[in-house]
Amino acid sequence: MAYTVPKLKDFSPTALDKASEKLAAALAKEAAEVQTESDWKSFRDRWMARKNGVLTLVNDLWLKAAPKENKRDIGQRVNQIKQQVEQTVDNRLAHVQGAASASRLSAERLDVTLPGNRRPLGAEHPVIKTMNEIVSVFRNLGYSIAEGPVIETDYYNFEALNFPPNHPARDTQDTLFVATQESKPLRDRLLLRTHTSPVQIRTMEKMKPPLRIVVPGKVHRNDPLDASHSPMFHQIEGLAVDTNITLGDLKGTLDHAMKALFGSSVKTSFRPSFFPFTEPSAELLVSCFICGGSGKRDLEPCRPCKQTGWIEILGCGMVDPNVFEFVKGNGYDPRKISGFAFGMGVDRLAILKYGVDDIQLFFQGDVRFLEQFV
Ligand code: DAH
Repeated sequence: MAYTVPKLKDFSPTALDKASEKLAAALAKEAAEVQTESDWKSFRDRWMARKNGVLTLVNDLWLKAAPKENKRDIGQRVNQIKQQVEQTVDNRLAHVQGAASASRLSAERLDVTLPGNRRPLGAEHPVIKTMNEIVSVFRNLGYSIAEGPVIETDYYNFEALNFPPNHPARDTQDTLFVATQESKPLRDRLLLRTHTSPVQIRTMEKMKPPLRIVVPGKVHRNDPLDASHSPMFHQIEGLAVDTNITLGDLKGTLDHAMKALFGSSVKTSFRPSFFPFTEPSAELLVSCFICGGSGKRDLEPCRPCKQTGWIEILGCGMVDPNVFEFVKGNGYDPRKISGFAFGMGVDRLAILKYGVDDIQLFFQGDVRFLEQFV
């Protein structure tokens, strides 16, 4: 039974001694049961609350109710009891808090002999690594880096690159269009850029010639997944514009870049091609850096070059004057300046370089695959 403050009939010293002892015993017993801070709060309130706390009741039932002649004596006793209660409540709080911090400390004990936490070092992703290598070859030639949005308008991805509306060359791009754009004029409709070439126009709008840029970035096409196709992949675009830029500059620059990337012994070859935004256009081939151009590896047919001894690396050409017409207002008068451009797929180069047999491995995020490039 919990202790309750009794009404006193007898106010004699002996009776008061007895009552005080009972109270003190209850105080000690209840204090010993307090283990947590919330126990302690109820304990404090039970004994010290202004309303109905034990001390208040002692004051009411013992002191106020005492006959006049006993008041002095009882007043002293009640003061002692008050001090005793306050002290016990304070001590108990210190005890509870001390216990809590001791248990916290023992949980946090530091064992300096335990092995440290290993923080595995990440590695550059093989595609990004290849991209950085290509970019740095051109940086050494004085090229700057430009970037542009992955969600592009029809105007930049096609129209300003001399793909007129309904031109069949658009079909080669397997474009992924953003839905519900039909209410906009064609040129403003959004799509996922199919190449990094739109950044040619975006940069020429902002910067006057002369210009030398490379543009690394992500592109998307509606290609079903297989070992060599992914709907998302990476390209690096290049553009050089100045007075008197010739096809000789294009060939010299790209021949140098291929030797820097694949070794000084590779040969380059240009094969005529078509792109709407270059005229003339070409594909650049390098002699196969896997089989050395022989088409054979240890008497087996060389797969990467399909036994031809040549690997196709990029598309390129002299910037079509029609493209300059779109940015003529910013100093790109096709009668005064000329330029060359090129664009290459980075993922395919990384595949060749590292002998990876499935492009999907690049994007699945399997650590066991990625760890091999540390
Ligand atoms: N944008 C072309 C593509 O993805 C690649 C390309 C070809 C870029 C020729 C060029 C270029 O800048 O001159 O199919």
